[in-house]
Amino acid sequence: MKKVWIFASGGGSNAEKLFAHFKNHTSINITGLLCNNSDAGVISKAQKEAIPVFQLSNAALNEHGKLLALLHENDVDYIILAGFLRKIPDEVVKAFPNRIINIHPALLPKYGGKGMYGMHVHKAVKAAGEKISGITIHLVNEHYDEGRVLFQESVSLSESDSAEDIARKVLALEHAHFPSVCEKFILE
Ligand code: GAR
Repeated sequence: MKKVWIFASGGGSNAEKLFAHFKNHTSINITGLLCNNSDAGVISKAQKEAIPVFQLSNAALNEHGKLLALLHENDVDYIILAGFLRKIPDEVVKAFPNRIINIHPALLPKYGGKGMYGMHVHKAVKAAGEKISGITIHLVNEHYDEGRVLFQESVSLSESDSAEDIARKVLALEHAHFPSVCEKFILE
């Protein structure tokens, strides 16, 4: 059984899809949620599924060795970032090569990098007048949003779409693909 932790910072609609997808899975078990925001909606979603919640403040996340020790103590095999809005400490990235999956709400390499997360991405896509946007599911390496791409899917935008409309379209793609792409990669 592969043990997977989800890292999330916000509402957790993707985390919720992952919890549902892997419930009673024969070889992948979500054994924890790591959250850096004590007000995040994702916490109650994990609790509802009886998934243990681990809360670390941003300061604690940056404490040398702290997150890595927690992951090792809990025998974590894979990490899935589902709207986790902090950089993963380098020592954790090094200790989990090809074991951390992220979802990004745009077609990388466009609209990636530091500061490009959540609505910032969709507002930039809108401001540039893009005709398409989409999702990128990729492995995490030491450079922000630059790890190996596992999957991309695009969606057409119309001129009248607001940044909020773009966010809705992109989130629907995330929900449709993220769990199955994670499953396929972990079982490879
Ligand atoms: C998702 O759109 C995800 O792609 C994005 O945060 C949102 C979380 O939504 N992640 C990033 O921007 C990472 N750079 P959710 O909490 O409803 O799953």
